[in-house]
Amino acid sequence: PKAQLLAGVKLMLTAGPTREALDPVRFISNHSSGKMGFALAAAAKQLGADVTLVSGPVTLITPVGVTRVNVESAAQMHAAVMQEIAQQHIFIACAAVADYAPKVVSEHKIKKTQRDEMIIELTKNPDIVAEVAALTSKPFTVGFAAETQDLAHYAQDKLKRKKLDMIAANNVAALGQGFNSDNNALTVFWPNGHTELPLADKHQLATHLITLIAEKYHDTHRA
Ligand code: C5P
Repeated sequence: PKAQLLAGVKLMLTAGPTREALDPVRFISNHSSGKMGFALAAAAKQLGADVTLVSGPVTLITPVGVTRVNVESAAQMHAAVMQEIAQQHIFIACAAVADYAPKVVSEHKIKKTQRDEMIIELTKNPDIVAEVAALTSKPFTVGFAAETQDLAHYAQDKLKRKKLDMIAANNVAALGQGFNSDNNALTVFWPNGHTELPLADKHQLATHLITLIAEKYHDTHRA
């Protein structure tokens, strides 16, 4: 049998997009499929972790044995994470959380008017992973960075700024990887090192990344 590297470890992930309502029938969102987060949840479960998956709206099947919490908006995702975070040993922020949400959500469907322009005011959403990493008793916190240029520079900046223990960066400009793709390649950074996880099926890549996270998590608890 496989070594249960994460036996007895409570691990929470966020996955998928968020939807930010404009009115009862419209929202702002993005193309995140949730595939990477769900693959990571399955890989963590296979290593023996007690896995909670906080997911935005996706069309994926919950991995066997994983506890799933469904949310729509960034505010709901934030609340769901904060409610359970004190019990978690590892937190992985895989979700493509909307940076901004409409300032007001119209109670009724917004009507078309005579005007050719419409302005929608937005307000910043809470940065879930940064808030988790700022907790006094914080879990081992892993973030993702989707960049189109200067991957290493922006990822390392995000690692520092958000006080993360690890960040997995992918070049979304590269063909056949990243958003909505079945394949992905990652460069993973931690405060004093980095490694490349080459292009692979998201399930293989998830196993490699979870194993790396488990090793670094155990290292920080041995130190
Ligand atoms: O700053 P940026 O949005 O590029 O950071 C991406 C990382 O931060 C991802 O791990 C994402 O899940 C997380 N994030 C978050 N809450 C937000 C925005 C991003 O947890 N509001």
